[in-house]
Amino acid sequence: MERFYVTTPIYYINAEPHLGHTYTMVVADTLARFYRAKGVETFVVTGTDEHGDKIAAIAAAHGENPKLYADRMSPLFQQAWQECGFLVDQFVRTTDPRHEQLVQEFLQRVYDNGDIYFSRYAGLYCTGCERFLTEKELVGGNCPDHKRPPEPIEEENYFFRMTRYLPAVQQYFEAHPDAIYPEHYRNEVLAMLASGGIGDLCISRPKTRLDWGIELPFDRRYVCYVWFDALISYVSGLKMRGDDTFHAFWPTAHHVMAKDILKPHAIFWPSMLLALRLPLFRRLLIHGYWVRGEAKMSKSLGNVIRPLDMKQQFGIDTLRYFLLREMAFGQDASFNEDAFAARANADLANGLGNLASRVLSMQQRYFDGQVQPLDPPTAADDDLQGAFAQALVEVPEWTEQLAFHRALEALWRALDHANKYVVDTAPFTLARERQQLPRVGGILHRLLECLYTTATLLAWFLPETSQKIFSLLGVTAPVRLPTSLGWGEHFPIGHRVQPPITLFPRIDLQKEATPRA
Ligand code: MSP
Repeated sequence: MERFYVTTPIYYINAEPHLGHTYTMVVADTLARFYRAKGVETFVVTGTDEHGDKIAAIAAAHGENPKLYADRMSPLFQQAWQECGFLVDQFVRTTDPRHEQLVQEFLQRVYDNGDIYFSRYAGLYCTGCERFLTEKELVGGNCPDHKRPPEPIEEENYFFRMTRYLPAVQQYFEAHPDAIYPEHYRNEVLAMLASGGIGDLCISRPKTRLDWGIELPFDRRYVCYVWFDALISYVSGLKMRGDDTFHAFWPTAHHVMAKDILKPHAIFWPSMLLALRLPLFRRLLIHGYWVRGEAKMSKSLGNVIRPLDMKQQFGIDTLRYFLLREMAFGQDASFNEDAFAARANADLANGLGNLASRVLSMQQRYFDGQVQPLDPPTAADDDLQGAFAQALVEVPEWTEQLAFHRALEALWRALDHANKYVVDTAPFTLARERQQLPRVGGILHRLLECLYTTATLLAWFLPETSQKIFSLLGVTAPVRLPTSLGWGEHFPIGHRVQPPITLFPRIDLQKEATPRA
């Protein structure tokens, strides 16, 4: 049995879910649905990262106990993803006792192996990053990400002997060129490793400074560093479903995230796994940032778009389409309402929505919704079929390569072809002459097949729309992604299709209240 395990970062609960998180969720969901369509067994883990300074500080600012604060915030993520319809097999909260127990077990194992030592440390600590920064990283004395100076801190702590594992990590990435995608992030990581600038990792915080974390099993005066805790969620999420689930899925782990957290995933995490004597993940899939104007969309900068507002206003598939079509995976992309409306109107309302509605309404008008036999194909018919045969090959190929924008582009080339075919063959004109009706029936049958293939290829990108199209066609979705078009096999003659519905209403930004920022 082929398997595919995909994770998203577990999100900090210092604010509500925003568009950046939603993109990562859409990518993980799209991949899971794609592999499912190919008959692969999939497992998706996401969750919330609830320990550490950042959460303790925001809970305190709300005058709340951190656990109660977490209990209030974590469900916002869980519910948002559920309402968006994302596949999630296990949602991990790091305050879940099952997770906490595993983190302690892992800490003890690394300690027993002699890979954790106690030492005095003085450094510059950024509470935003939750780590010590080096002088070199500062920009004008400030943390480059959080735009404020780190605090000088001196204390005794526990350190993970990460340096012991760095050569093996480097070897792994050298031997597995696809383990970090896109390649320039792999090069970045290899350069980091080659620089020799990475030291051991401080994995404790004294309770006198921070007590909101998982206690070290070998010293109760300390709690665990939040990253050491959080990364283990990728294992605890599987183990929550039993050791069999862990053994079955772990070797296929794909971690999706933005470039902001490449270092913990590419340096800390494989070192931890090696120290735990666990196999390494299969791949890190790194995407860029969504930006609005110049600024990255993030909670700390307070520049956010809420997924549920977007869903309510435009529908989840319109949002999914925009996110997947507009961002080349690995590069940054910018979000603005005009581009969003323009894309949705051109590709969804006009391109796909219009085709479906024309075809289904002609089928009603001329044949009372009943499918007619295919007539002998003309050159135009063959071209149309060729365009969709090409999409059937290209769309899965581009998806596999994470080039979602190219996959959608390829499908829309076929849809453009179909819209042009309607104009060129002009069934609405032919239908005026009775003896042309068999030809009209043949044309419409082929157009219904276009919609069938489109719904098949949209199953992982726009699952709601894909379902809607299949139900308009009155057929069920194929169990497996087919390798050939099978046109002529999906609709028995006389089979009734439904009258059209509006799949995508046109967006008029003048009328819409713009999404709340
Ligand atoms: N808690 C850590 C992750 C621990 S994983 C073991 C964390 N949380 S976070 O809430 O800050 O989420 C960061 C992730 O959210 C990014 O890696 C990315 O997946 C997503 N994004 C947050 N803002 C984003 C954009 N503006 N654009 C794209 N993705 C963004 O880091």
